Amino acid sequence: MKVTPAALKQWKAEGRKAVGLSLYTAWDAALAAPLVDFFVIGDSAAMTLLGLGSTIPATLEQMLMFTTAVFRGCRQVDAYPCLIGDLPWGTFTTPERAVDTAVEFARHGASAVKVETADPKIIQAISDAGIAVMPHLGLLPQQRDRIGGFKAQGRDADSAAKIIVSARVMELAGADFMLLEAVPSEVAAIIQRTCSIPVFGIGAGKDVDGQLLVSSDVTGTYLPFKPAFAKKFADGAKLFREAYAGYAEEVREGVFPETKHGYTMVDGAFDILKKSFE
Ligand code: KIV
Repeated sequence: MKVTPAALKQWKAEGRKAVGLSLYTAWDAALAAPLVDFFVIGDSAAMTLLGLGSTIPATLEQMLMFTTAVFRGCRQVDAYPCLIGDLPWGTFTTPERAVDTAVEFARHGASAVKVETADPKIIQAISDAGIAVMPHLGLLPQQRDRIGGFKAQGRDADSAAKIIVSARVMELAGADFMLLEAVPSEVAAIIQRTCSIPVFGIGAGKDVDGQLLVSSDVTGTYLPFKPAFAKKFADGAKLFREAYAGYAEEVREGVFPETKHGYTMVDGAFDILKKSFE
């Protein structure tokens, strides 16, 4: 069954927690789709998949390609978490631009979009265009250098109050749900309690309506660093290394490929060939 933005809103009323993953490829989507409720096709792809140093270089073309891939992965296994496309940096500088970008994500299979902004004009424009929208508050990776690194936000009373007010403004502007990244759990809990829309967290504690993690953090396949809020649920790097090492060893020792990994000629063809080439 397809998980829609409307379903996620209903789940908040029922006290049902949603589980989200940020991922970008068809194979990963096909593995995870039957197990979770929403996918963010996140611009963290620039770092975790493309090996770049930040999310800033992610382009709209790349993000749409990843969105299509995730959509296809879901179709392969006939399981449909809510797909949330992530507007890349520089593609929502005006409300009109934000709507045009969000429309592209919807055309490529997304049921909603995530935007790293608390600008009510941007959120309202996307909502008015009929596209479900998730503002991303707290730590905004697209502004990493501006805020001095990947640092928790809202740790003192003033900055916490600003995030709480922004969350309320986002709800009034028409947000369907919101994402809090790297904010203290007490702050997230106030927002969860005082907002009627679902509040999802990544590094925002337990008292929210759902959790999000990046798939490569969950599987232990992103080597450069692990955010403090992430938990590795498997040692994927070890598993992959073992597979690659096994392959390399068998090739070098002449064990792989075996006969069953190859093809045979049709009956009699080899005899004809031999006559021509002997
Ligand atoms: O790009 C991404 O994957 C994200 C989530 C980590 C919030 O923005």
